[in-house]
Amino acid sequence: MNKKYIYLDNAATTPIDPRVIDVINQHLKSDYGNASSLHSLGLRAHETLENSREKVASLINAVKEDIIFTGSGTEADNIAINGVAYKNKNRGNHLITSSIEHHAVLRPFQELEKQGFKVSFLPVDKFGLIDLEELKETITNKTILISIMFANNEIGTIEPIKEIGEIANESDIIFHTDAVQAFGKIPIDMNDLKIDMLSASAHKLYGPKGVGMLYMRNKGKKEGWGTYCRPIMFGGAHEMGYRPSTENIPNIAGFAKAAELAKEEMDSDNRKLKKLRDKIISSILENIEDTYLNGHPTKRLPNNANIGFRYIEGESILLSLDMEGIAASTGSACSSKSLEASHVLLAIGLKPEEAHGSLRLSLGRFNQESDIDYLLEILPSIVERLRKMSPLNKNMAYNVK
Ligand SMILES: Cc1ncc(COP(=O)(O)O)c(C=O)c1O
Repeated sequence: MNKKYIYLDNAATTPIDPRVIDVINQHLKSDYGNASSLHSLGLRAHETLENSREKVASLINAVKEDIIFTGSGTEADNIAINGVAYKNKNRGNHLITSSIEHHAVLRPFQELEKQGFKVSFLPVDKFGLIDLEELKETITNKTILISIMFANNEIGTIEPIKEIGEIANESDIIFHTDAVQAFGKIPIDMNDLKIDMLSASAHKLYGPKGVGMLYMRNKGKKEGWGTYCRPIMFGGAHEMGYRPSTENIPNIAGFAKAAELAKEEMDSDNRKLKKLRDKIISSILENIEDTYLNGHPTKRLPNNANIGFRYIEGESILLSLDMEGIAASTGSACSSKSLEASHVLLAIGLKPEEAHGSLRLSLGRFNQESDIDYLLEILPSIVERLRKMSPLNKNMAYNVK
């Protein structure tokens, strides 16, 4: 691509940090040993694996023994949800999640429903927050798992994770959180939070695709993890048997480098990102009429701006921006290829036509203020042009049948 491309779709995936690429390349060339082999090359790969585990654990103040590497965030979610459900099915068959989870969480729960589990999908308020009182009321003596995402991938809302952990802990229920959007983006301290299991994915924090991790708190029980989660894949003894398969050492080392950089640079990255995010939000809301913010005004990820534009489709804005060299999104990458309105935007109370009129701009470490200035310069005329062509003009109120 010759023209400068402005990438504002960092919630879908991030570009790989060049410092991470260096680490991956180095391991691709020299660390091809199998981490289970007993010769020196194998031992070196094993050492890289364990050092990487330490670095990834350190980002969330966890111990390395509580981390397993997986092939993705989706895989971590599936191991946690299915593993806990099947391990604990003699204790109860009730599971709780929210209605705005990523499909990597929603779909396993839907499958478990088909297997006889009862799942409560908690609603959210207009900002995307679950209600803690409702969570307490939903718990029964058959509840074995609560899985609520740390931060939402579409609207950026950050859930009350500390409080949810306390509620789960009081009732002796396993608490899993899909932290794929939060890990490496906002501070997470496992000593401060009563989270039993947490999923993350390297490609959201400037690391490679195809590697993730699952944190599993040992809970101090005699037999450790095996007491509350069983494996769902079977093979070798890799990753304590929870993710049997030869470890992808270059990608895992890249993930560890990305986590190390996130730890060092999170504060400075976030100062910049919040400023840019707020500039996007305030400028669009002030300068383009009939626009509104989706998600919580303050409890939101530093890099997420999700804006609703009345009378036009987010998809048309996205395509027009793409022609001008700007990448944006209308929702999560997988649902943006479907014609269905986003389940997240519907859950916060938007009408389907409003949900179709939303645009997600997600920032990253490599964005500059000049990128945002360019976006804000061209967006008003794009919106004006699309509104002129739109059959949904202002006079046609949404409630007209
Ligand atoms: C909240 C959330 N969970 C899970 C995933 C899936 O992660 P992966 O692409 O690593 O499977 C994503 C990716 O978009 C996500 O945003």
